[in-house]
Amino acid sequence: MDCLHALKTRRCVRAYTGEPVPPEVLTDLVDCGRLAATARNLQPWEFVVVTAPRMLSAIAAVTDFGSFIAQAAACIVVLASDTKYYLEDGSNASQNILVAAHAHGLGGCWVAGDKKPYAEKVCRLVGAPGGFKLISLLAIGHPAEQPEKEKRSVSEVLHWEKF
Ligand SMILES: Cc1cc2nc3c(=O)[nH]c(=O)nc-3n(C[C@H](O)[C@H](O)[C@H](O)COP(=O)(O)O)c2cc1C
Repeated sequence: MDCLHALKTRRCVRAYTGEPVPPEVLTDLVDCGRLAATARNLQPWEFVVVTAPRMLSAIAAVTDFGSFIAQAAACIVVLASDTKYYLEDGSNASQNILVAAHAHGLGGCWVAGDKKPYAEKVCRLVGAPGGFKLISLLAIGHPAEQPEKEKRSVSEVLHWEKF
């Protein structure tokens, strides 16, 4: 899939077929994440790829709007050390991973991490050392739905030269 098409057609997918995703594909998703831009090239991130069903269920259970993680083939837990731009950096990596998943023919959905009361619990579940921030929980799997989403048009959001 070409990059522009992938960017324009990616949508959050929250239903999965149950088919596993090969480790080399999951590795490629993290590879795409770790190549994202970061402030001062600090690359403050770490990625934990969870595939064990019990662990997926445990993560899903502590979230408020992420119950579908339990049915995903994998959950990529995006963590960052507490740098000035950790959230921007970690978000860049997360978006790269979701677009790469779509380009691989997979579906993915971002489940909130930063600012959530369950962030510490997830960090503990995946064994992260103290001081790490939870950026996102990225549920990944073979899509069992093709969601449509209302999007604001380019003419509505684009301002040439001045707002
Ligand atoms: C920071 C952030 C947090 C999100 N948290 C959740 C979440 O907890 N649960 C969920 O189902 N979707 C979550 N989403 C996905 C959004 O609901 C989704 O991106 C939005 O509805 C637009 O749909 P689209 O991704 O299909 O374009 C989150 C997305 C972002 C960027």
